[in-house]
Parts: sequence; C-alpha cells; structure tokens
Amino acid sequence: MKIIRVKDEIEGGQEALALFKDQVKQGAHVFGLATGSTPNTTYQALCQSDLDFSEAISINLDEYVGLSHNDPQSYYSYMVEHLFKQKPFKHSYLPDGTNEDADEECQRYSRIIAQNPVDFQLLGIGRNGHIGFNEPGSPFDGTTRKIKLTESTLNANARFFANEADVPRYAYSMGIGEIMQAKTILLEAYGMNKADAIQKTIEGPVTPNVPASILQKHPNVYFILDEEAASKLSK
Ligand code: PGA
Repeated sequence: MKIIRVKDEIEGGQEALALFKDQVKQGAHVFGLATGSTPNTTYQALCQSDLDFSEAISINLDEYVGLSHNDPQSYYSYMVEHLFKQKPFKHSYLPDGTNEDADEECQRYSRIIAQNPVDFQLLGIGRNGHIGFNEPGSPFDGTTRKIKLTESTLNANARFFANEADVPRYAYSMGIGEIMQAKTILLEAYGMNKADAIQKTIEGPVTPNVPASILQKHPNVYFILDEEAASKLSK
C-alpha cells in the first residue's frame, strides 16, 4: 500500500495523472473508472494531458437503476461531460440503468469485466466506506449486482439532484470481488467527511462493515489523500 499525501485535490489530480501516465507506459489498456466529485480534478488533468485513450477500454463502476444514458444525472452523462467528450476511448462500458432485468444486466456486465481484465482501477470512497456502490455488508467476493442505496449514500448524493426524492434508490454496481481483480488500484479521498472512512479503511480491521478495508489485502494499491482525509491516520 502506498499513500500519497497532497495539499488539495488539484495536486491530487496531478498525482493521479502521473500514475495514469506510468500505467500507460507499462502497457495498461483497460481502465476502471469512477464518478462522483472525487475524480473531477483527475479527469481535468487527464483532459489537459497528451494521453490518448483512443485504443483503450474503460469500464465504469456503477450506474443508477432507472436512468437512461441520456439522463443528465446518469453516470454515463457524467463521464461524457468530464472525460469522454475530450478523451474518447475505443470502447466505454457502463451498466445499462434502463435494463429492468437486473439478473440479465448484472450477468452481462460481469461478462464484460471478465473479458476485459482491468489494469488500473480508479476509486472514490463513500463516507460509510463504500467502494463503487458496495455498501457496508457487501460480500468481499461479490460480482455485479443491483444494490439498494443506504440513507447515508442517498443523503450524500442528494446534492446532485433537485430533490432528495429524485435520487434513484438502486444502482447496478461492480462487486468487490471484481474490483479486487484489478492489477493496480488508486483510491482518492478529499475532505474531512472522508477522514473516518479512510482511517478505518487503512488502519482498521478488514471487515465487510467497511467495504474499502479489503484493499489492505490488494498487492498494488495507491491512496491519494489530502490533509483532511488523512487527518485521522495515526502515522
Ligand atoms: P464522492 O463519492 O466522490 O462524490 O464523494 C464517492 C463515493 O461515494 O464513492
């Protein structure tokens, strides 16, 4: 585990860009991508860089159930806006939130992940320690499934919607078992509201109550943390 401490998310984005460049140099071809406010500065840095993803593949962690790709609140729209418009990939995969057959959609997405092993996975972390939408209690060996979002996640995500009632209650999310298959993982966290989750993730016991704590078992994981997110670490 390698912890990179930064002043703020702007510097974090530059550190993440350096890791992306290093990965590309090493031949990384499949990138696992995340949404939310955390990766914004990373995507800005990627967009301003000379990196070319036109022969690469991206696979996103999750998508809200019920939102179509065209919905401005969908994670698909987020990715177009923040990255794909400027840095298109050869193929970009996200779960299809409009597929009402959850079993079919989850199996389809798990097949895509199995056929395109992720070289470099980008992650944020929820205040409750979730990765992707794998909420506390999610199995460490889980594959893609339909997940009921917790109150904490609904509250956190309400800021992106006009009313909290508009926040979708379910998401399709890559499972922790699939996330852990990535060859290298980068988790970024910024701000005080992530400090508890980061302390438990890095220094606490490995437990499904803190989904990200499983990263302690991954052989190749980087954390980029600002001072606030790192403020509860003992060292
Ligand atoms: P955030 O979400 O980047 O919007 O804080 C991260 C997450 O919930 O995984």
